[in-house]
Amino acid sequence: MSENQATDHRYYGRRKGKPLKAGRERLLDTLLPKLRIAPPTAPPPESLDPRSLFAHAPREVWLEIGFGSGEHLAGQAEAHPAVGFIGAEVFLNGVASLLRHVDERSLANVRIHDNDVRPLLTHFPASSLNRISLLFPDPWPKNRHAKRRFVGPRNLDEVARLLADGGEFRVATDHPVYARWTLQHVPQHPDFEWRVQGPDDWRVRPADSTPSRYEQKAVAAGRTPMFLRFFRRNRPR
Ligand SMILES: C[S@@+](CC[C@H](N)C(=O)[O-])C[C@H]1O[C@@H](n2cnc3c(N)ncnc32)[C@H](O)[C@@H]1O
Repeated sequence: MSENQATDHRYYGRRKGKPLKAGRERLLDTLLPKLRIAPPTAPPPESLDPRSLFAHAPREVWLEIGFGSGEHLAGQAEAHPAVGFIGAEVFLNGVASLLRHVDERSLANVRIHDNDVRPLLTHFPASSLNRISLLFPDPWPKNRHAKRRFVGPRNLDEVARLLADGGEFRVATDHPVYARWTLQHVPQHPDFEWRVQGPDDWRVRPADSTPSRYEQKAVAAGRTPMFLRFFRRNRPR
């Protein structure tokens, strides 16, 4: 891989939507600066310990990539107060929506990266995350756009580096192309294991989680979500 490919973090999605209501603008001005992850000053790798972002020395740190409107992340943060949650989202309206959840539920265990997650990941040390969720990622269904999909060899290497032994990489999708693509790539990666015993292991959302906005839309439209859970194999001792 050329150096250019290794550092190419071009982003192709939407960053802004409809104008925000005054209350959400206010949260962007007042609450976001308190929760935003400041850009690390030291160069990567391993220059930012995610646990250090939280006041309560979290038992574990879980990352959600592309949290959308934040329903799932807020639900998880409320249900697991001892865990530190990092959410990354480039879509400003989504960030404002998560801020509303954080504010209304007084969540003290959420930190936000309101930008492309990929450069941030390079700063975290190996084994520093215990769970990474990628829920209903943009499917980029055309073959010629496949390189834009988050699941791919380069990001999988990074996810494997970041997850602690036994850590979980959750991918949910309602798109058959993305489901097939994920099942072609992740179980083949030497660091991941897909532990499945029967169809409920991918048909049923993990019991500890709540539906995301996109999942609700998919179900309402008659599409069937798949919930894929991969586990980080133990590193050799
Ligand atoms: C189809 S939406 C799903 C949103 C949410 N996960 C849900 O299930 O409702 C995908 C989201 O991922 C975000 N996204 C895509 N690439 C991203 C990246 N590299 N870093 C952060 N967010 C990203 C998009 O802005 C978008 O909001």
